[in-house]
Amino acid sequence: MSAPTPSIQLNRRVEHMQPSATMAMKSRAAEMRRQGNPVVALSAGEPDFDTPDPISQAGIEAIESGYTDYTENAGAIELREAICDKLDHDNGLDYTPEQILCSNGAKQSLALALHVLTDEGDEVIVPAPHWVSYPEMARFAGSEPVIVPTSVEDAYRMSPAQLEKALTDDTRVVILCSPSNPTGAVYPPDELAALADVLRDYEDVFVISDEIYEHVRYDAEHRSFASFPGMKDRTITVNGFSKAYAMTGWRLGYMAGPTPIVDAAAKIQGQFTSAPCSISQKAGIAALALDHGPDGPVQEMVTAFRKRRDHVLDRLRAIDGVRCPTPNGAFYLYPDVSAYFGSETPDGQTLADSSDVCFYLLEKHNVALVPGGAFGGPNGLRLSYASSMEDLDTALDRIEAGLTALQ
Ligand SMILES: Cc1ncc(COP(=O)(O)O)c(C=O)c1O
Repeated sequence: MSAPTPSIQLNRRVEHMQPSATMAMKSRAAEMRRQGNPVVALSAGEPDFDTPDPISQAGIEAIESGYTDYTENAGAIELREAICDKLDHDNGLDYTPEQILCSNGAKQSLALALHVLTDEGDEVIVPAPHWVSYPEMARFAGSEPVIVPTSVEDAYRMSPAQLEKALTDDTRVVILCSPSNPTGAVYPPDELAALADVLRDYEDVFVISDEIYEHVRYDAEHRSFASFPGMKDRTITVNGFSKAYAMTGWRLGYMAGPTPIVDAAAKIQGQFTSAPCSISQKAGIAALALDHGPDGPVQEMVTAFRKRRDHVLDRLRAIDGVRCPTPNGAFYLYPDVSAYFGSETPDGQTLADSSDVCFYLLEKHNVALVPGGAFGGPNGLRLSYASSMEDLDTALDRIEAGLTALQ
């Protein structure tokens, strides 16, 4: 006799959480490949380069020398000191190691920051198109995301007037992400200064500044939000190693911020996960010590990304109806494809929205992109150009063929 199936009552917040759309697209593309379809996936959010050798070597040495124990919960002091040096050197920010918490990726740092700062009834301002996880993290922490839409015309950047309009008595956090995933937009320093001017009057509002794409930039200046007058005490700067150093699998990120906030986040980390992997921490120290100049491995990757950005942008803009601003950072393009909403495929299917356009391009033309709905930017879709030129050209041939076949 088989045991009765238990009725499983899951946590309410888990029930309401949306699964990651980027992960869903990745699974569908992998499934189609297994069925023999030659899918080109431009949906991944990770560099297609290997981790630079000096970083990997540091990891290997960590293993060989037995550096395999738990480190301090906040991260090894050598790593936190190296992060303080980086923040001073690159961003003009003065932090002590006690104000740094290293975690399993910037993702964990962001989740911890939102859990520490927000409560039931609080609002979290999220400019859109936004990284997929911010609203879900805010909701899981009990707060309510307030989405501020931006468009191609705004070059996907929130204006001070839009910020001012979104602020209420319940606003607790504003999330900024520059350079941005999914749009590649980079806020120029004067625009960040203008956002800081608005926030100066709202003393209870904190900023979580996600700067994980800091080093992936093309002719655009990066300014840390905490470096604007009065903002350091109200900003949690989040950064990580995944993107600039092609270290997505090493899972290492960090936050820097006011001591009470970092301490509270460390308390949660201490009970939930403890410090990130000791081997990755040694690798992280080596990453920060790399040559970041024009001949170093980071700039080598950025130069390759830039060539691809220019090429893909030219090809996309040559397709009738596709509009896309020039992104100055990250490795994504966010074309507006709303001109195709309502059009019909050769076999008579009407494409209502960005999700329909994406699935049509996947199912009929073997290109995986991510629909805009997941990013709160329903008119667009995300294309990651962290792929070889050959794959990009194949994908662009297919996108062009697919879109021009629509009526
Ligand atoms: C904007 C943004 N923030 C944070 C993360 C998380 O990065 P990590 O790999 O460090 O967790 C990502 C990764 O896709 C991202 O795009």
